[in-house]
Amino acid sequence: MAYQTLIVEIEDSVALIRLNRPDALNALNSQLLGELAEALKALDSNDKVRCIVLTGSDKAFAAGADIKEMADKSFVDMFGSDYFAPEGEAILRVRKPIIAAVSGYALGGGCELAMMCDFIICSETAKFGQPEINLGVIAGIGGTQRLTRFVGKSKSMDMHLTGRFMDAAEAERSGLVSRVVPPAKLVPEALAIAKKIAEKSALTVMAVKEAVNRSYETTLREGVLFERRLFHALFATEDQKEGMGAFLEKRQPQFRDR
Ligand code: CAA
Repeated sequence: MAYQTLIVEIEDSVALIRLNRPDALNALNSQLLGELAEALKALDSNDKVRCIVLTGSDKAFAAGADIKEMADKSFVDMFGSDYFAPEGEAILRVRKPIIAAVSGYALGGGCELAMMCDFIICSETAKFGQPEINLGVIAGIGGTQRLTRFVGKSKSMDMHLTGRFMDAAEAERSGLVSRVVPPAKLVPEALAIAKKIAEKSALTVMAVKEAVNRSYETTLREGVLFERRLFHALFATEDQKEGMGAFLEKRQPQFRDR
């Protein structure tokens, strides 16, 4: 499938999606988000793919929703089309893990898109921000909710109210990103992590993703119960027998997703 705003490559069970609107610093317009939703859906049902990496360019992961596309829209346009909700929902429905690899700007919708992925690694040049306040609006694809869960109320309020940017060191310190690497190593490192995940049982990987994401949606008690039931259910799989058997036999497990 050819896309105009994305470059998609698949190698060794890992798909790499590059956002590709260089003239607009990968600003998220309807076409790009529509293609991204379509590409993710296709990769999710592609048996050759076990993990997905989403990245941008050295200068920008994405500099936000496309201001040129939005500037003249009315409330009726935005509310009537539920602007960006279907694309956001499509990203969240993906069952395979998605790693965001961020270099340069991840602002507004760009920061929100990175936070919709399962985890974020970034390069030393990364700059995260929710500068919508400077445009007379607020975040619209989850920023006020997700950033607050990542970095806490105080920092989230600071970011949303002032529109300031957070650098890579602060992002790592605050729990927004899991690792910081030199710019040239960003994509190779993200692909190496993805390949490591691709070696695990796809069933367990999906269970981890469901259980960790459930922690955002429910009480601690219900989340722990959900986790325990998934843990119990995995004892019905061949991969549990293989994983534990391989440990006891001091060999590498050969998972078969069963
Ligand atoms: N939408 C549309 N175009 C954008 C864009 C955006 N969000 N961000 C950058 N661009 C375009 C610029 O208009 C410019 O295009 P032209 O050459 O045609 O003028 C090109 O990308 C390069 O940008 P700059 O010349 O501004 O580059 P810079 O290096 O001087 O600055 C920047 C980089 C600080 C990221 C600056 O571009 C910027 O502040 N961008 C806007 C960031 C922003 O406000 N994002 C939030 C958008 S609203 C949102 O995302 C709502 C939501 O939650 C859904």
